[in-house]
Amino acid sequence: MQELNPPQRLLLGPGPSNVPYRVLRAMSTPLVGHLDPKFMEVMDEVCQMLRQVFQTDNRLTFPVSGTGSAGMEAAFVNLLEPGDTVIIGVCGVFGTRMVDVAQRCGAEVITVEAPWGQPVDLERMVEAHKAHPEAKLCALVHAETSTGVLQPLRELGEYLRDTDTLLLVDAVTSLGGVELKVDRWGIDVCYSGTQKCLNVPPGLAPITFGPRAVEVVQKRKTKVQSWYLDLTMLMKYWGEERLYHHTAPVSMIYGLREGLRIVLEEGLPQRVARHAAAARELRQGLRELGFSFYAAEGHRLAPLTSTYPPEHVAVEEVRRRLLEEYDIEVGGGLGPVAGKIWRIGLMGINACVQKVAVLLRALRDFV
Ligand SMILES: Cc1ncc(COP(=O)(O)O)c(C=O)c1O
Repeated sequence: MQELNPPQRLLLGPGPSNVPYRVLRAMSTPLVGHLDPKFMEVMDEVCQMLRQVFQTDNRLTFPVSGTGSAGMEAAFVNLLEPGDTVIIGVCGVFGTRMVDVAQRCGAEVITVEAPWGQPVDLERMVEAHKAHPEAKLCALVHAETSTGVLQPLRELGEYLRDTDTLLLVDAVTSLGGVELKVDRWGIDVCYSGTQKCLNVPPGLAPITFGPRAVEVVQKRKTKVQSWYLDLTMLMKYWGEERLYHHTAPVSMIYGLREGLRIVLEEGLPQRVARHAAAARELRQGLRELGFSFYAAEGHRLAPLTSTYPPEHVAVEEVRRRLLEEYDIEVGGGLGPVAGKIWRIGLMGINACVQKVAVLLRALRDFV
């Protein structure tokens, strides 16, 4: 067996995105024990920076060991008990996944659906809540990576603030690339993943629980059905007690620390503006090449553009050739648009005109 030597790809798919050298270097620095006082400092720094990026004062903010889906599971399993009602907005793969996760918790799931390519109508979420005021939570995917749709959230947060129902938001593809204000928007629980706009390899799921959500967890009548994701135990490791729960993935946390430093050095508004500008540049170039767009106008997500190649383009063959001949990865479609669209990610360091130009230059050879 030879030493591993993977190709250097330009990762313009739905994630993972490319990782800056600074993050890789931080990940190769010496290990310390996961209960070492020096590592405790690193943990505190990571939590502090995560609060800034989520724009929250929530004490309970930390990275779950596991990918974005572990963040999703952590959110649902800790809040739900068998028989609870939840309302979930569904307009793509990740809303559908939320339904599956909530049902596995024994919850009664009410779905509010929208056609793929459109966001969920918040008025319909409010109506669903009025019909089911007992719902423990309402859940939405902020950036639906399967369709490239940006989901409005604010009005629902404002409405739920005055109820006993929590707002749970999936920010896997939005954190660090799209405006997201957890506290101001009334979001009670929010999780993300490291491999998208934060430019850290997949493997951690930043999560934040607000005071209303912590209260719900503390008032549970039954044990959280997942031992690994049980917040009541995890908080004792990430909080002041520092009680061993599981061996934290030390190098991943080093990497996240550096990724967050990079985000905050740039500044959140600047970063959001850069993602928006890169997306505009990409869409203009795609339009000129005859591409059209899948996500509804006015609801397009900057870090991920879903697009139909012109009719004469062999969608999957060209995607494969971009990878093999140009070392450029773009994502394929999922579900009803499998084989019909591409999903082009411009996430973190890849949200820049230079990367857009590289992709458009390559595409000109095929269209
Ligand atoms: C919106 C959204 N939620 C959840 C996930 C699941 O994350 P992971 O694949 O890291 O488990 C993804 C992954 O692409 C996603 O885009």
